Amino acid sequence: MTQYGVDLFLVLILASLGLSALAIFISISRHRRHHSRAAVSPTSSDDFATETARKVLREFEKNGQSVDAALVTWSPDTLRKILADELPDAQVIVVSNREPYIHNETEDGDVELVVPASGLVSALEPITRACAGTWIAYGGGTADRTVVDRNDRVQVPPGNPSYTLRRVWLSDDEYQGYYLGFANEGLWPLCHIAFTRPIFRESDWEAYEQVNRKFAETVVAEARNERPIVLVQDYHFALLPRMIRERLPEAIVITFWHIPWPNSEVFSICPWRERILDGLLGSSIVGFHTQFHANNFTESVDRFMESRIERADAAISYGGQVTLVHSYPISIEWPIELLKALPSVEECRGRVRKRFRIPADAKLCVGVERLDYTKGILDRFHALEELFIRHPETVGNVVFLQIAAPSRGTLPAYRHLHEECLRYADELNQRYGSKSYRPVVMVAEHHSQAAVYELYRAADICMVTSLHDGMNLVAKEFVASREDEQGVLLLSTFAGASRELLEALIVNPYDAAMMSEAMLQALTMGPDEQHERMRRMREIVRDNNVYRWAGSMLLDAARLRKRGDLDRVTASYERPTGPAGDNVVSMFERKQAVGFR
Ligand code: F6P
Repeated sequence: MTQYGVDLFLVLILASLGLSALAIFISISRHRRHHSRAAVSPTSSDDFATETARKVLREFEKNGQSVDAALVTWSPDTLRKILADELPDAQVIVVSNREPYIHNETEDGDVELVVPASGLVSALEPITRACAGTWIAYGGGTADRTVVDRNDRVQVPPGNPSYTLRRVWLSDDEYQGYYLGFANEGLWPLCHIAFTRPIFRESDWEAYEQVNRKFAETVVAEARNERPIVLVQDYHFALLPRMIRERLPEAIVITFWHIPWPNSEVFSICPWRERILDGLLGSSIVGFHTQFHANNFTESVDRFMESRIERADAAISYGGQVTLVHSYPISIEWPIELLKALPSVEECRGRVRKRFRIPADAKLCVGVERLDYTKGILDRFHALEELFIRHPETVGNVVFLQIAAPSRGTLPAYRHLHEECLRYADELNQRYGSKSYRPVVMVAEHHSQAAVYELYRAADICMVTSLHDGMNLVAKEFVASREDEQGVLLLSTFAGASRELLEALIVNPYDAAMMSEAMLQALTMGPDEQHERMRRMREIVRDNNVYRWAGSMLLDAARLRKRGDLDRVTASYERPTGPAGDNVVSMFERKQAVGFR
């Protein structure tokens, strides 16, 4: 380039930087101006500009999100539009272990419907409804077989069917080895820092492989053509993506790992580590809640697999195929359908206090989750005791209500936790309670989603103190249910949600003293501060709702499909080497690019 060319180039760059800075400056000052005069006379065009600027600025605050994504209002319609425009005729198939609706037989022979306590289910259900897809899951209910048709399918949700639930049956041995054994005694403790030793048994691994194959066959049977979009959910199905890829090479397989991914040193203790990585790398995209876990995964691949990693593009090339590894923070539907039918906050407070005999003047603190050792339930009790010791004036003024849905109850670690929770709750009640006051109410029972929202509305404080958690949707559900913009969220720094909900009181669950002080801060926080924090968190959950989560993955999937299609069309032509010839997938050689689906 001549000197003149270089100068011109520099001038252009400086000019465009200057324009961007000016645009951001204008957007910030409009935002500020609006705030200072909003109380006087807001106009609708101002509102719109401010809303837009606010979204753009927030996008800048969030790491790695594109600005244009923020300007979209994410709803079921947005998802449907993405599918229709970007992935026409694509069939969406969801695969998870847990089914969204369980049919159980009651004692008097009726069939009752249960929606399981599962973040995965609350996130995926509205998505599958919006896409009118097919959901394949293990049929574990006692009446599940009686309600399906001869193809093991049932239309759901009951009363307003909008998608197909296809049930897969497992023998007792398969359930024991695949679900309780390898998934929940092996992978679950391996991936969570909760200091529970993983157990790896050869027989569990064999059952895991067998069940993954069974699900792969079901995916193939349910696929209406060669190119479905398969959304594989969670650590129960690490081998499934590869199995699907072998049978349906043109499918887009998006695998979402709902739990943390450990660092490569921890991961290395798994005897089948290479098989697990190979299985997952059959996916077109592997998603995690946080960038940190995505990085851990890439690091594990780097250490154990013959692969090529392009960090700048978040892409891994392995065996002639490319897999994108991204973070997509999961969320909940917005607005929540069920909330429409729920009574006001006042009424919920009254009902819950009456039901659990909570004194009218005591503050109500709630915890809601599956009874799991990763959730930090005992640590919460510990913090409450610490609060009573450090601030004796709080005794009698606060009640902690813990709802814990029984989960994986036949495993020793879970049985032990259940006993410990009951024992500690009793101990606290004896030590600090009286005839009319129980500081801890522990209810180890499943609650319907509506009952859970009622609790959130009734609460003064919600405690989410996981020792380690991929995301944790309880935190987001609590925020979404507080239309009154009141209530305080205490949130573990080790839950993915703490990366987004910065206005929560962020705590370290291992530090009982710190947690007790945060509890005191929550108990004494005034309504204005509660309102400010809650308002901001509600905006975050509203903007980053579950439709955005699914939409971002589908958009990435659409890009991959288009790239793959383009590459197939041009595969027979000789292209020049060098940057100009690498226009389809710049980071890898053309031969490997064919692996994009
Ligand atoms: O946290 C991981 C996860 O799969 C969630 O997505 C889900 O809420 C939960 O575990 C379900 O547990 P289970 O189906 O074993 O009761």
